[in-house]
Amino acid sequence: MRNIRNFSIPVLLIAVFGFMLMGSNMPENEDKKSDMPENIKAIVDKSCMGCHNSDSRSEKAKAKLNFTTFSELEDVKKIKTLRDIVEVLDEKKMPPEKFLKMHPEKGLTEKEELELKEWAQKEAKAVLNK
Ligand code: HEC
Repeated sequence: MRNIRNFSIPVLLIAVFGFMLMGSNMPENEDKKSDMPENIKAIVDKSCMGCHNSDSRSEKAKAKLNFTTFSELEDVKKIKTLRDIVEVLDEKKMPPEKFLKMHPEKGLTEKEELELKEWAQKEAKAVLNK
């Protein structure tokens, strides 16, 4: 009887700490995902990710905007980047024209452009009002 009790207390402690750790990690992971809804992720994957990711060969594009690490940006930088996204979309600067000539299928439809812009505006406001 004593043996069982000695054994089960550490096991119980490990289980409790395990659940506490899981509990504290889970909302964080969910937050990161909720930064970008699925439809926005799909648009970015198709039209932007090729150049704006951690493995991009374009240092310039990566330095200006890296979607791989976007969710980890501090608030001020995130807001600035979101505003830049709205701006380049308004000005039809992104994706670049040259790139679209070679890959017309990666262009944004009007609906996608609007969705991406609305997401960036909403997200910037959400970070601002946090
Ligand atoms: C073919 C590669 C390529 C694709 C695809 C691409 N970009 Fe870019 N992007 C660049 C490069 C290169 C720069 C840096 C331009 C410069 O510094 O003049 C840039 C710069 C930017 C900037 C910073 C602008 C500034 O003036 O600071 C934003 C924001 C941006 N891109 C958003 C996007 C979005 C949103 C998409 C998808 C809709 C996209 N890009 C798709 C290559 C790309």
